Amino acid sequence: MVPSRPRVLVLSELPAALRARLEAHCEVTVEPAEELTDAEVAARVPGYDGLQTLLIHQVGQRTFAAADRLTVLANCAVGVDNVDLEAAQRHGVTVTNTPDVLTDDTADLTWALILAVCRRLAEADRFVRAGRFTGWKPDLLLGRSLASRTLGVVGAGRIGRAVLARAAAFSVRRLYTSRSRLPAAEEDRLGAVYRPLPELLEEADVVTLHVPLTDETRHLIDAAALGRLGPDGILVNTSRGPVVDEAALGDALAAGRLGGAGLDVFEAEPAVDPRLLEHPATVLAPHVGSATHETRFRMAELNVEDLLTALVRGERPERSLVPA
Ligand code: DGY
Repeated sequence: MVPSRPRVLVLSELPAALRARLEAHCEVTVEPAEELTDAEVAARVPGYDGLQTLLIHQVGQRTFAAADRLTVLANCAVGVDNVDLEAAQRHGVTVTNTPDVLTDDTADLTWALILAVCRRLAEADRFVRAGRFTGWKPDLLLGRSLASRTLGVVGAGRIGRAVLARAAAFSVRRLYTSRSRLPAAEEDRLGAVYRPLPELLEEADVVTLHVPLTDETRHLIDAAALGRLGPDGILVNTSRGPVVDEAALGDALAAGRLGGAGLDVFEAEPAVDPRLLEHPATVLAPHVGSATHETRFRMAELNVEDLLTALVRGERPERSLVPA
């Protein structure tokens, strides 16, 4: 039964226009919170029909067990590795995420990292700021030419395909791997050739990761995978930190067994392996793949739409990730 005036708990800042949209139909509590454990979310959830969370909020068994009225959880991220979807299903809670709206921005940031590592942009920036630019030199901060090198995209979902689509502009050879092969017409459109992961790692100069974090993808890139990429290889990750064994990455970089890395995500955020901080050929960002004004608004807007669809219209949101 749809309550007449549903109660919604929002655990992030909400733009005023979106808050007003929600408040027109619901009793809304906005309580922005930084990292929360499952127990901490569980302590907040009783009495609410709808919940909005961020990827730094762990929503597991305890939350769903404590949720006496919850029917919908809108997670403000495309990744839902912070939510126990099986527990949600067992407790009859619909879970939604924010796909599509962040695809372009995340693909753009991926290319920013690829270019920054290849052209040593962070090092160059530090060099100028340190007052070390004393004149043009033919061998100053030489990087790697991208044209005619090989890009390997791991995961051919929305973001992986958007990264491949942008690759044509840089004249790189394109390989991809994914659980299932793309239709031939899509491979042609993207100019991308399928390879199993081990072969892609052997052939590609730059490998970029676009898989969700699951039991299968945790440490997908381990010491052996980094070994295949090799001393000239570059690894870029804008997906989830634990897809890469960060200690193995630190080892490989420190030992000169990997050429460089561009990372927007880390295994135990916000902690970063000190060897990544120290290495000159890493470019590091604080999980900002979707961080533009436009996209963060759109993500929050999708959350509000899904909460209203479930709680006010009593319908199942089309972005629902939990089978009915
Ligand atoms: C996501 O949506 O999963 C990103 O990591 C955060 O924008």
